[in-house]
Amino acid sequence: MIRICIIYDKLRFEEKKIYSKIKEKGLDATLVDGKSITFDTESSKRDPVFGDIILQRVISYTRGLHLTYCLEQMGLPIVNSYNVSEICGNKLITSMILKKNDVPTPKTTFAFSTESARECMKNLGYPLVVKPIIGSWGRGVYQIKDQSMAEMLLDTRQDNDNSYSRIYYLQELIDRPSRDIRCIVIGDEIAASVYRYSSENEWRTNVAVGGRTEEAPLTSELQEIVLKASNAIGGGILGVDLMEDKARGYLVHEVNNTVEFRGASAVCKSDIAGAMTDYLLKMSTK
Ligand SMILES: Nc1ncnc2c1ncn2[C@@H]1O[C@H](COP(=O)(O)OP(=O)(O)O)[C@@H](O)[C@H]1O
Ligand SMILES: [Mg+2]
Repeated sequence: MIRICIIYDKLRFEEKKIYSKIKEKGLDATLVDGKSITFDTESSKRDPVFGDIILQRVISYTRGLHLTYCLEQMGLPIVNSYNVSEICGNKLITSMILKKNDVPTPKTTFAFSTESARECMKNLGYPLVVKPIIGSWGRGVYQIKDQSMAEMLLDTRQDNDNSYSRIYYLQELIDRPSRDIRCIVIGDEIAASVYRYSSENEWRTNVAVGGRTEEAPLTSELQEIVLKASNAIGGGILGVDLMEDKARGYLVHEVNNTVEFRGASAVCKSDIAGAMTDYLLKMSTK
């Protein structure tokens, strides 16, 4: 019997749902807390705890990435791969890869010091959007509306010891409806697509900041751009997020590695966790 190992660091709706779906399909599932795993250079892939295939669902980007590296080096099949995890977890890398592969994406400028960020923001003009290159749930994603807000941002970042705080990700503000689109991609299939509408007095559409989901029609144009983005990143189980620019159409702004689908599963008929299980099963025998 195929055994699927789910590695997590905090059990969310998604991990519980996937776990019970695997069991429901008559397969063997184990849940392993990533915080409890240790490796050494002699670690063997025969460690039965990891089963036949691993689904990496760790929330902490750094922890997930390093665990993935070790597991991959041991020769274990893991979804998503180290390369995919690294690209998705870092918005600078994601933007560069999307652009390189001709996937429409917002125009974004990167700066690596306070001085150059100040200069870039002056040249780009306001409003603009700033984001931490590593992060999720809309945290630290701000609209910078004028020079005084830009100075406040530079000030706060300067006082921050985090090694990423001096890397500035500055993006054009997209003229879009009060929603974005989340597509859940599993291999070559799109398992679900939803609009995420922002809540009142909030411009970000993340479900984590009150966004409301509604099923979105999967047009052939949407399908094409989403699969192009997923292939550019390296494929696997991904959450491709897009905005609808009023002039340019779809722009992919983010690809998520350990995609959350609580909002999507509440409004979509498709069996997202079931499709993930089927994909893992397929990958385990490759
Ligand atoms: N350039 C932009 N223009 C307009 N809205 C944006 C822009 N970038 C992000 N947003 C809004 O902010 C949300 C969070 O940004 P995102 O890049 O997805 O970061 P996170 O990883 O924190 O979710 C998006 O879902 C979208 O609603
Ligand atoms: Mg997002």
